[in-house]
Amino acid sequence: MNIQWYPGHMTKARRAMKEDIKLVDLVIELVDARIPYSSRNPDIDELAAGKARMILLNKADLADPRAVDGWAALFEEKKLHAVCIDARNKGSLKQVQGAVAQACREKTERDRKRGIMNRPIRAMVVGIPNVGKSTFINSFAGKACAKTGNKPGITKGNQWIRLNKSLELLDTPGILWPRFEEEQVGVNLALIGSINDQILDKEELACRLIDILRAEYPGILEERYGGEEASAVIREREAYAILQEVAKKRACLLKGGELDVSRAAALLLDEFRSGKLGRISLERV
Ligand code: G4P
Repeated sequence: MNIQWYPGHMTKARRAMKEDIKLVDLVIELVDARIPYSSRNPDIDELAAGKARMILLNKADLADPRAVDGWAALFEEKKLHAVCIDARNKGSLKQVQGAVAQACREKTERDRKRGIMNRPIRAMVVGIPNVGKSTFINSFAGKACAKTGNKPGITKGNQWIRLNKSLELLDTPGILWPRFEEEQVGVNLALIGSINDQILDKEELACRLIDILRAEYPGILEERYGGEEASAVIREREAYAILQEVAKKRACLLKGGELDVSRAAALLLDEFRSGKLGRISLERV
């Protein structure tokens, strides 16, 4: 979902979020494990004040495990219970239920002292577009989710998915807006494909990716697009020349035999986004 954000959108989303957060005990925030800073919304701390909190580093299957561990430790330091997941893989969600109990321990204890027993925790999932909120809800809620959706007569309003006797999930996620102030954030979001490529043209975006890869993951481009001549170019020349090498290597040619650098850029971005270049993080703690 590529939303074109403008101030009106943000005001509306903020208002909706404020109302929904009132209904829950726990806010489960999803971020993209490859860019945990760029994919976080800076206002969430204020919006979720007073609520139990959790942060899920999603798409961990695409991210560099060392970088992700660093982020998880940082979030834990900030008292946010962090779990790395691949929302498409149910196995990776096993730890989430335990983390929910941990995150809500104080509240459960408070309830118990007041004689309130077995009241389920109510939780909602929030995050910027494309971080995997719907995928997570579907995988986590599984059959329960389908059952709610199939009930006739359900129209508008908040629906709760009962996961078990101790947890209920709001069926629609809260959509947060991304950070806008920093240019690198926009570039990172475009690189992972979360916002339209129009923020920069594809060739420029691919060049930014090449620069990051050369600095942080030396050898990775040579391995995929190398060959003797190409490897020398990858080591020594500027990003655009490397893109031309990718075009040669992958036979991206225009009708007259000229290199189709634009197609090579799209191909490189696509291979990065789909994990074909390996598990790569664009941000470290
Ligand atoms: P949203 O509700 O937050 O907007 O995100 P959504 O669940 O729609 O997920 C956005 C894309 O990210 C989807 O891909 C989804 O399959 C993918 N995705 C979600 N979680 C993970 C994960 O942990 N790992 C990986 N590798 N991908 C994940 P899509 O291409 O837009 O759709 P589809 O082709 O999968 O249907």
